[in-house]
Amino acid sequence: MELTDFQKEILEGIPSQLPPPAKPDPNLSHAPKRKGILSPEEKKLAIKNALRYFDKKFHPTLAPEFKQELEDFGRVYMYRFRPKSKINARSLSDFPYKSVQAGAIMLMLSNNLDAAIAQHPQELITYGGNGAVFQNWAQYRITIKYLAEMTDRQTLVLYSGHPMGLFPSHEDAPRVVVTNGMVIPNYSKPDHWEKFNALGVSQYGQMTAGSFMYIGPQGIVHGTTITILNAGRKIQKGKEGLAGKLFVSSGLGGMSGAQAKGAVIAGAIGVVAEINPAVVQKRHSQGWVDEIYDDLQTLIDRIKKARKAKEAVSLAYQGNIVDLWEKFIEEDVFVELGSDQTSLHNPWAGGYYPAGLSFEESNEMMANKPDDFQAKVQGSLKRQVTAINKLAAAGMYFFDYGNAFLLEAGRAGADIFKEDGKFKYASYVQDIMGPMCFDYGFGPFRWVCTSSKPEDLDLTDHIAMEVLEGIATTAPKEISQQMRDNIKWISEAKENKMVVGSQARILYADCEGRTKIAAAFNKAIRDGKISGPVVLGRDHHDVSGTDSPYRETSNIYDGSQFTADMAIQNVIGDSFRGATWVSIHNGGGVGWGEVINGGFGMVLDGSKDADRRLTMMLHWDVNNGIARRGWARNEGALFSIKRAMETNPELKVTVPNIADDELINGLFSTK
Ligand SMILES: NC(=O)c1ccc[n+]([C@@H]2O[C@H](COP(=O)([O-])OP(=O)(O)OC[C@H]3O[C@@H](n4cnc5c(N)ncnc54)[C@H](O)[C@@H]3O)[C@@H](O)[C@H]2O)c1
Repeated sequence: MELTDFQKEILEGIPSQLPPPAKPDPNLSHAPKRKGILSPEEKKLAIKNALRYFDKKFHPTLAPEFKQELEDFGRVYMYRFRPKSKINARSLSDFPYKSVQAGAIMLMLSNNLDAAIAQHPQELITYGGNGAVFQNWAQYRITIKYLAEMTDRQTLVLYSGHPMGLFPSHEDAPRVVVTNGMVIPNYSKPDHWEKFNALGVSQYGQMTAGSFMYIGPQGIVHGTTITILNAGRKIQKGKEGLAGKLFVSSGLGGMSGAQAKGAVIAGAIGVVAEINPAVVQKRHSQGWVDEIYDDLQTLIDRIKKARKAKEAVSLAYQGNIVDLWEKFIEEDVFVELGSDQTSLHNPWAGGYYPAGLSFEESNEMMANKPDDFQAKVQGSLKRQVTAINKLAAAGMYFFDYGNAFLLEAGRAGADIFKEDGKFKYASYVQDIMGPMCFDYGFGPFRWVCTSSKPEDLDLTDHIAMEVLEGIATTAPKEISQQMRDNIKWISEAKENKMVVGSQARILYADCEGRTKIAAAFNKAIRDGKISGPVVLGRDHHDVSGTDSPYRETSNIYDGSQFTADMAIQNVIGDSFRGATWVSIHNGGGVGWGEVINGGFGMVLDGSKDADRRLTMMLHWDVNNGIARRGWARNEGALFSIKRAMETNPELKVTVPNIADDELINGLFSTK
């Protein structure tokens, strides 16, 4: 298709003539049929709601079609309105726009819907099964037209994918404000999502799906590498690192697939069990896992060889994780690091495959005998924990990987609690990400080169490395390890070949790193060295972006881990300090109703205005969370917020006075 046709289609919005009817493309992955939750009256409402996007003369044709979609898929996706042109992160100059900022947002949004990247592209789902960019194709078409037409004196308002419209604003305001899944708190159970989404009035945006900030698997590889590296540091006696040490886990799926690659980058022997043969083959063909084994004895022999040679290698066990753990005990294999990344946030519908059943038997049982299946899952979890406990008693460091493993094992009656009722094992945020990264302001900073040229990305890598090397020379000892890790990551980023879709890079950095890197990019754009604007952003899974009591804020111990002031404050604060777009979501990672998370996008165009905005906004975007973590008495955060106040006298944060535990305990002593 010619470029002009692509641009014409964007500017067309809802077509004046009905496109031919369309069915889902059988060659693509599709969202599962959603549960039929609407009453007959609510079904009428859902169809009436969907018809709001179209001229009345089309209603007699579209109404029965939408009714059929609702019956067949549980949702009205409006398949016939899918655009003819390919959706992907083309060069910014290909998009039609009046505002460069809005053009860059089109590019980011298109990357999230690219059929080569999105999980269920025709249902507008980017990742995580239900992480949506829009609810239907009418929303996509109207939004992209608004973006093409808007100026820097307007703001586009999106309510859960619905383009409410363009409202007059000003040049320093965000071009787009996104809210996803915002509901009255008492209406935030999973079935509320099913109902509101089926009605076409709300959606689950995950973290980077509905905020247009998804950059494919690269994001998760970096976070996983940092987690494994730091887990290794928790167990090392000297400075020996992870060479010859074993990291064992399960899952080679969407996020869990990063474990094998992360383990190798961290220098360990990664052994990951995956029950689904198709998933194992996919990860192997992508080069994410080195070797596949379906025989446990052969695998054990290979592990021994790798240990002896201190090889950094990833080995997939095609089978059940429980069998793998039990084999390690039988063979007396010492495991240094262990975790689990089955999808236990969804235990009864395919997230966890119980031991003793084949993959096919499980699929059959979960659909036809759900109660029996539930009992099998719970029995399997008990076996798994028994094995993990034995290996932990021998010295293995085990951590929960944000997948609700401890929660579901506890519910299954597994031996997972200490005497005080707390879990025997910590989560990766409690032990690793929180105290080692978030409390110091290190988080998943990222950028995208809108020229879509790899050479621009190479240059940004180089600039970022130089900036970090400069900062590292004066960094305090508290963060020198993080600095070294990040310099290593960025220096190897290109050869690790992780770009899929937009020319994007992730780099964990603190406030100083993020700000100095962004300023250096802006200057390089101004000097014509980088050939187009650069978009800055981050995962919502960050220092300040997310309130999630069992994940991002699980290392907050003052009782405030169930509050969501930080995420809300963050997005409001970003919006008036220069963000190009902001987003705030209910749900993301751990589920609807379980988390509030927000983020931003910022376009650097080489201007002085961009310099001003980046300095002001990034400072808030990191220090908000550090201040809150410090107020919760987290040591690293107290260190960091005091340091931030020294470097910027305009920052004045309320810091806690730490009460003496003896004094408090004495009040309740019965002696
Ligand atoms: N990587 C991260 O940083 C991160 C962060 C937070 C949460 N998570 C959580 O991790 C979980 C996994 O995410 P995902 O996107 O990879 O999900 P996914 O469903 O794509 O992958 C999980 C894989 O585990 C496999 N599996 C299930 N039971 C098994 C068993 N008993 N033995 C062996 N394999 C088994 C499945 O076949 C599947 O391929 C989710 O709950 C997610 O929320 C990951």
